[in-house]
Amino acid sequence: AGAPMIDPFGRAITYLRVSVTDRCDFRCVYCMAEDMTFLPKSQVLSLEELDRLCSAFVARGVRRLRLTGGEPLVRRNIMWLIERLGRHLDTGLLDELTLTTNGSQLARYAKDLHAAGVRRINVSLDTLDPDRFHEITRWGKLDKVLAGIDAAQDAGLKVKINAVALKDVNGPELADMMRWAHARGMDFTVIETMPLGDIDGDRTDQYLPLTLVRANLERQFTLTESDYRTGGPARYVTVAETGGRLGFITPMTHNFCESCNRVRLTCTGTLYMCLGQEDAADLRAPLRESEDDALLMEAIDEAIARKPKGHDFIIDREHKRPAVSRHMSVTGG
Ligand code: GTP
Ligand code: 5AD
Ligand code: SF4
Repeated sequence: AGAPMIDPFGRAITYLRVSVTDRCDFRCVYCMAEDMTFLPKSQVLSLEELDRLCSAFVARGVRRLRLTGGEPLVRRNIMWLIERLGRHLDTGLLDELTLTTNGSQLARYAKDLHAAGVRRINVSLDTLDPDRFHEITRWGKLDKVLAGIDAAQDAGLKVKINAVALKDVNGPELADMMRWAHARGMDFTVIETMPLGDIDGDRTDQYLPLTLVRANLERQFTLTESDYRTGGPARYVTVAETGGRLGFITPMTHNFCESCNRVRLTCTGTLYMCLGQEDAADLRAPLRESEDDALLMEAIDEAIARKPKGHDFIIDREHKRPAVSRHMSVTGG
């Protein structure tokens, strides 16, 4: 691979997140409306096309790939794509191939994921209370997710638990969740909710700044700054009492855009240069226009040259409108 792509603010773009489907088997209240309209299949790239696109990014210096969704594991034949992408691990062009998943299909896929070269996955889980889990995800079953996590660990995958902090929903439970994750050898990361997409509920009321979460945890636990990093925006502390690692993702209270290394590809071939901006580049047209990758490479370079400095999420308390109208399930977090 050549030198990495550098954006206008001097940031090397070495991380691509790929939403392989906008569909999901859950309907989390902060992510989707109950009655979602999904993309017609005709607009969605084939797995072959996604492979070609990802491989073009790898050729342009991307060293980490993360598949997201929607729920990546509900896409039909997804293992075909993951196995194909795994070949870049074998050739040394890629450092990491990973997934962010809701865990519902992990029992079925864990072994195959490990065999394809996946070593680490993030499971999004906001509560350990079965009823509350059902309220948050609307369609999800907690026991299935827990069985999936067990299967993943048995298969040798390193699992991190990601929880979106929601004041009355899981605020009081975050310490217990952390204890639970750490007791099982998993890192635990909390995330500030971002105003993305029109949802049914009232997100501004549930927003919980992680400065508060941290202050609360510090009453019970000894937190020590850690320089452990994974290439993502999470900042970690170690917890003396549990021996585990706790991460904070703080898009609202502490903007981390300055060190952003990533862009996001959707399943229609749209490239978002920032999670919190509307500007996007269409890569499907250059992909389909020619079998040769020259046009595609040009379009990728042109898009990176437009990467904005950062997001401008503001929670509009008066109108309660999202800052960005597309749903999280389109860009995959
Ligand atoms: P690793 O560090 O690679 O393990 O990933 P992570 O901790 O960043 O976790 P993951 O990639 O699963 O992302 C978790 C959540 O963090 C996402 O769903 C988003 O909510 C948020 N996030 C990740 N990257 C960005 C980013 O570039 N900008 C913003 N605003 N939020 C992000
Ligand atoms: N703000 C922050 N994180 C969100 N996620 C979904 N919607 C939001 C939001 N509005 C998270 C999920 C999962 C990841 C894919 O995105 O919990 O961890
Ligand atoms: Fe599905 Fe994840 Fe959105 Fe929940 S947050 S509806 S699991 S994509």
